[in-house]
Amino acid sequence: MQVAIDGPASAGKSTVAKIIAQKLNFTYIDTGAMYRASTWLAREHKLSYGDEKGILAAIEQENIELKSVAGQQKVFVGTKDISQEIRTPDISAHVSQVSALAGVREKMVKLQRQMAGKMNVVMDGRDIGTTVLPNAAVKIFLIASAHSRAERRMKDFKERGIKVDQSLAEIEHDIAERDYKDSHRKISPLKKAQDAIEIDTTAMTIEQVVNAILFEIKKSQ
Ligand code: C5P
Repeated sequence: MQVAIDGPASAGKSTVAKIIAQKLNFTYIDTGAMYRASTWLAREHKLSYGDEKGILAAIEQENIELKSVAGQQKVFVGTKDISQEIRTPDISAHVSQVSALAGVREKMVKLQRQMAGKMNVVMDGRDIGTTVLPNAAVKIFLIASAHSRAERRMKDFKERGIKVDQSLAEIEHDIAERDYKDSHRKISPLKKAQDAIEIDTTAMTIEQVVNAILFEIKKSQ
């Protein structure tokens, strides 16, 4: 079974996707982490973020992997755990440029479909319902106001122990800018699939969102 959860930045996708995957004993796949890892590789190899050929070569050479370690999903490049490093504002600022590259998307979508072909998955991202898994049994599109998403991001940084030099307004501005880029790129832009169920999480608790999605999953079975 495939559950697709898409939506703009910091709408709560990964938080609820992880809980749902755990409850159903499905595998959670964080596709954003794969684009973040590609961006991290570009920086590591001192490549320009628009250097499609160079970034693809780095991906081929280093191998990006999502692994579950003690029940936590981690992102590895070769043997290095980069789970924390890919969440920094610097990576967030450049990921939309890297994720807009056709070759990078092609490579990531192929890997994502391979994973979803082998097991039951809850996959979150921007193009899961529209492109990666168009036949997913359940498609959810999570939205929330830009302000509440900025507040969540700030809280998330604090919880992860990441030092933030930005104000709440700056975080909100960055989120809006990333959403604009993600929804205006040529290939697989951020968009609600026609058959997706939209949930506005602004005034909802995590538990309420989880329950609403579990209800949709039950309905589809
Ligand atoms: O979900 P997260 O905010 O970590 O995603 C980081 C970035 O990766 C997004 O802003 C977007 O540019 C890209 N992305 C994408 N397609 C996906 C998932 C993420 O283009 N399926």
